[in-house]
Amino acid sequence: MTTIENFRRSLPLVDHARGKRLAVTCELKCANACMKPDCNTSSNPTFREVAGAALSRRAVLGLGAAGAVALTFARTGPASAATAADEGLGGLGLPRPGWSKLPFEPIKPVPANIDQLVVPGGYNWMPLIRWGDPLFADSPAFDIAAQTPEAQARQFGYNSDYLEIIPDKSLKTGVLVNNHEYVNANIMFPTVPTGQILPPEEVRRRGDIAKMAQGLSVVEISRPGSGSPWTYVQGGRRNRRITVETVFELTGPAAGSALVKTAEDGEGRWVRGTLGNCAGGTTPWGTILSGEENFDGYFAWNAATPEQARYSSTSTTSTSTGWETYDPRFNAHDAGYVNEPNRFGYIVEIDPYNPDSVPKKHTAMGRMKHEGANVYVSKDRRVVAYMGDDQRNDYLYKFVSKNKISASRAKNLTLLSEGDLYVAKFSGDSPASEILGTGRLPSDGQFDGTGQWIPLTKNGKSVVPEFTTEEVLVYTRLAADAVGATKMDRPEDVQPNPWTGKVYVALTNNSERGTNSPLDEANPVTGNRYGHVIELTETSGHAGTTFAWNILLLCGDPTQVAHTYFAGFPADKVSPISCPDNLAFDAAGNLWIATDGAPSTIGYNDGLFKVPLTGDERGHVQQFLAVPRQAETCGPVIHDWEGMVFVAVQHPGEGGTYELQTSVFPDGYKAVVAPGDVPTAPRPSVVQVYRA
Ligand code: FEO
Ligand code: CA
Ligand code: CA
Repeated sequence: MTTIENFRRSLPLVDHARGKRLAVTCELKCANACMKPDCNTSSNPTFREVAGAALSRRAVLGLGAAGAVALTFARTGPASAATAADEGLGGLGLPRPGWSKLPFEPIKPVPANIDQLVVPGGYNWMPLIRWGDPLFADSPAFDIAAQTPEAQARQFGYNSDYLEIIPDKSLKTGVLVNNHEYVNANIMFPTVPTGQILPPEEVRRRGDIAKMAQGLSVVEISRPGSGSPWTYVQGGRRNRRITVETVFELTGPAAGSALVKTAEDGEGRWVRGTLGNCAGGTTPWGTILSGEENFDGYFAWNAATPEQARYSSTSTTSTSTGWETYDPRFNAHDAGYVNEPNRFGYIVEIDPYNPDSVPKKHTAMGRMKHEGANVYVSKDRRVVAYMGDDQRNDYLYKFVSKNKISASRAKNLTLLSEGDLYVAKFSGDSPASEILGTGRLPSDGQFDGTGQWIPLTKNGKSVVPEFTTEEVLVYTRLAADAVGATKMDRPEDVQPNPWTGKVYVALTNNSERGTNSPLDEANPVTGNRYGHVIELTETSGHAGTTFAWNILLLCGDPTQVAHTYFAGFPADKVSPISCPDNLAFDAAGNLWIATDGAPSTIGYNDGLFKVPLTGDERGHVQQFLAVPRQAETCGPVIHDWEGMVFVAVQHPGEGGTYELQTSVFPDGYKAVVAPGDVPTAPRPSVVQVYRA
């Protein structure tokens, strides 16, 4: 007999030397991207000194601040409700800035061996929905010992990531939308004994369960009134599962291109499935955008050409899901399916109000390892989507729609199919000699500077020499290499502040900074282990091509490392924070940051943090919650206007096995495991936090 607690404590937090996370996550989530040679081998410089050409910091910020004031006024003036709804709050009915019903004392950081979800005093939490919960009237109840693809297709998916909670007008009903990024087969299914292999039919059964556990879920929710916890509605009218078999329509200039045709889809217009759905965004017209991120790991990868190798540097013959053993479209060495990987890596858009709608993949927004996309409406009412490509030394992008947002929802549903794609080039204003790799501030007191959005397409057509439009949109990374984009420290969420228009970029970490990519002022930390956050100010409008930037946070535990920076706020008064990933704003204009990587970098469980951006409190990082052992915090939704916070708890107990789980979140502990007894398995879940 083993107590689970003892077993849990005995498990080492093994992390990949370069990935800063559990080896199992590297294998399942990113196909060991951290251990492969970099796929950005372009000689594209990361930093070009423009001494003399750069505006002074004060001049830049002055311009930015004036622009921000104008934008804020536009959003909060007499027509505020309509303006805010139209210009970036997704029509969600959020109140004006200044409201907050979410006072809290920051929690203490939670050591990484603790399997608890911790919230501040005065708050309670409960799961809203868990992996396996039945969604439809005919869905079977969750039973980990009786999983089937058919059951999983009718149940809530695994590894929750991007989350949206959209209340209807009454605030008593609403809809929840959630991404399911990948699965942890090691804790879902019994361990295969050493020396044995799974028979093909079991490979297929498990593989098909995984196919049905990924994608997205749309679920109706209800409650007695504002501020009360929600319950999900089994059999709700809008309930829907989108999986690795759901058919998507390709939109935009690369739809129909030879680059996306396969044996199954000779027209190159219809794709089965979505993969690696990580972060996302909600549009002002009420649709959900979801980023197809680490899609390469689902393919027996063919890196024979530079175009293929730029998305994953190493050829493989097998995957962790085994799909390639029975479904040829996941074998990129198969002559009929060489192009199948070209059909993933897009921003997908789904309409949660219409369960019969065909979801879309937007080629005009480029193909990369899309973390997500967040929309802002420019002054001229075009739609601007900010996007990170989450790989070491990859880039920051934005998409600007051709057409303007309008009162016609049907027209708005086509906005992301036509427009222009830009990639960011950052310039610093400090001499290179001051970029020390320690995060110490340069002599002008700031890591800051200016930048340019370099167009990859104009009027929907390629402006990159020697690239066709289709090549720009399918091999976007190579096009961005060609125009000299700035290599960044793994861009994750990129979130415009709906109240000020400033744009926040989470850069989670980059073990290769200073080795495979030189230091620059925008990425100033050698081997950047803890990540940083950049604040970007559009200086010629959100649809324009110039920006100013400064570093808001250099993350880390200030008691452990010297180079942390919290926008000038005293480092001894902040919560330690590491590996920023997902970003959100509350109705009072505070930034919220969810982390992924704290356990193996600063020894604490990942969490959710609030960061004020103005006044004396600017940079005061305060931890609101911690997720359980071996989980990452995803998809924060901050409804401070009613005292509620929602997060997705992804991969709790990822380091365990089916027989010896390392987390039992959220359903509780069994203290003792008898031989043959299966401990309660952890269930990735959407959690709601509400005032006690
Ligand atoms: Fe799926 Fe970049 O996190
Ligand atoms: Ca500077
Ligand atoms: Ca993420």
